[in-house]
Amino acid sequence: MSQPATVPSPGIPGYTYGTAAVPRAPITLEELELVKKTLLFSEEDAHWLRVSRDVLAPHVEELLDVWYGFVGSHPHLLHYFTRLSDGRPDTGYLEAVRKRFGQWVLDTAAANYDQAWLDYQIEIGRRHHRSGKNRTDGVASVEHVHYRYLPALIYPIVATLKPFLARKGHSAEEVEKMWEAWLKSVILQITLWSYPYVREGDF
Ligand code: HEM
Repeated sequence: MSQPATVPSPGIPGYTYGTAAVPRAPITLEELELVKKTLLFSEEDAHWLRVSRDVLAPHVEELLDVWYGFVGSHPHLLHYFTRLSDGRPDTGYLEAVRKRFGQWVLDTAAANYDQAWLDYQIEIGRRHHRSGKNRTDGVASVEHVHYRYLPALIYPIVATLKPFLARKGHSAEEVEKMWEAWLKSVILQITLWSYPYVREGDF
């Protein structure tokens, strides 16, 4: 199966995937392969992720409405998008992140696990952690997303995705294959995003 090339989308502010602005990841592609192996992530999963790209692409905004609705309706999560000055949600920040989140859906479905992808995974982890949060959008918001919510959010993200995977008339079995591939990919990504949260030498 051929891997689609990484095409950074220049129109999205702060989206630096595939550019020289992203530092090299501190883990290797070989180590990434072993994490994928541990997750039972196969080429078949990569295939089903790529199938999901055309299914999801027309519905990304609606999917983001669901995910943003989830975060927005939970004050303990919305907290991480609030301004330090008055504790109110920073709508400009939410909007800026939303554009990159939409691109993330397409990037996840592209299933292209090369060096640029690995590097950007560590970058996304940093952007949740105090070592990188707020810098991309130049905002004065809460300084750090607490780690405990990162793995916990996997379930609502992946559970709410499922009905969207059925939007293009695939069989229940095919929808299940896409969904399992997404579940594995999101677990893989959150594992990589954990890097800055784990004590040096322990990852
Ligand atoms: C399954 C878990 C999660 C996924 C898939 C996810 C996804 C993303 C994505 C794709 C971005 C944009 C990355 C980029 O800049 O290209 C992002 C940024 C962000 N996410 Fe998450 N996220 C998760 C967990 C959380 C949690 C639990 C919170 C807490 C509310 C959170 C708050 C944020 C914030 C504040 C940003 C902006 C960071 C910055 O300043 O650059 N995320 N997330």
